Amino acid sequence: MTKFESQYPSFPSIRMRRNRMKKFVRRIVSENTLTINNLIQPIFVTEGKFENTYIDSMPGIKRHSLYSIVNEAKEIYNLGIPAIAIFPYIPKELRNENALESINENNIICKTIKEIKNSCPDLGIICDVALDPYTNHGHDGIVINNEINNDKTIEILCEQALIQAKAGCDIIAPSDMMDGRVKSIRLALDKKNYINTSILSYSAKYASSFYGPFREALGTKNIKNSINNKKSYQMDPANSHEALREIRLDINEGADIIMIKPAISYLDIIKIAKQSFEIPIFAYQVSGEYSMIKAASEKGWINEKNIIFESLLSIKRAGASCILTYFAKDIAKSL
Ligand code: PBG
Repeated sequence: MTKFESQYPSFPSIRMRRNRMKKFVRRIVSENTLTINNLIQPIFVTEGKFENTYIDSMPGIKRHSLYSIVNEAKEIYNLGIPAIAIFPYIPKELRNENALESINENNIICKTIKEIKNSCPDLGIICDVALDPYTNHGHDGIVINNEINNDKTIEILCEQALIQAKAGCDIIAPSDMMDGRVKSIRLALDKKNYINTSILSYSAKYASSFYGPFREALGTKNIKNSINNKKSYQMDPANSHEALREIRLDINEGADIIMIKPAISYLDIIKIAKQSFEIPIFAYQVSGEYSMIKAASEKGWINEKNIIFESLLSIKRAGASCILTYFAKDIAKSL
């Protein structure tokens, strides 16, 4: 022991708590922050008898009408949230094997894009490209011989992307997990001169039970096809290297941004993606994540606002630059 050490008045000399002792110091040593720029609000829209109905498993979230979604969009824009992601509830009579409504230029999504762009042109609009809202079995693709047919599905996805781009959608977001769709959609968009329409690819989308409440929102919960889950196209939760391959492929095919989904159970994937690639990485805090927080908060078991902040901050800390979250509006109000 040196003389100095023996005379040293207190133990330990390294006190981590010094950097936590006062509010100002906590602020200046903080490594990550959540801002409004990091939030995207997903919203649901429909026409017909489910207009303005609430979703039981997603307390506080409703399926807007074409009229109410425009007001909602304005409110979201005025709160400072940069973008929304729109999802449709399609009336059952418009769903079929070939998902024809998905390529109808006058479908609810295209009408919604036009209405919102009219009244709120600077709000970014993101649209899913996938067939599940439009098929009568709820799968993301076309079923041929009891299999989700990759290449046939892509043909329709390209048309779907085109009508959405034509309606004014800023960011096309393929969430279907077919192979090669990013490249095909990029080529289709470029060919029609939508060179500035971006692609946000759901690259690492896991076959997750956290999507349950979303499927209630869209009415796709009771997939009645014999292929009764999405495991033949969405990823196995056991895998992480495979996520890197998926992401690399999508980047090479021309994706502008990539998405990891769900978020909280896949923070490790967000982190390795961030370390491995230079592309912006988004994460989707999905419906089940929302509903679990809502349910426990309603019971008074957790502090809702604190948990939302903590969960969103952890997603940012892992490496996501932006988060799709049903809490976006709530959190924007308190930021
Ligand atoms: C459909 C799609 C899903 C979600 C976004 N797009 C569900 C699914 O794949 O079954 C889930 C979003 C959520 O749970 O909030 N392609």
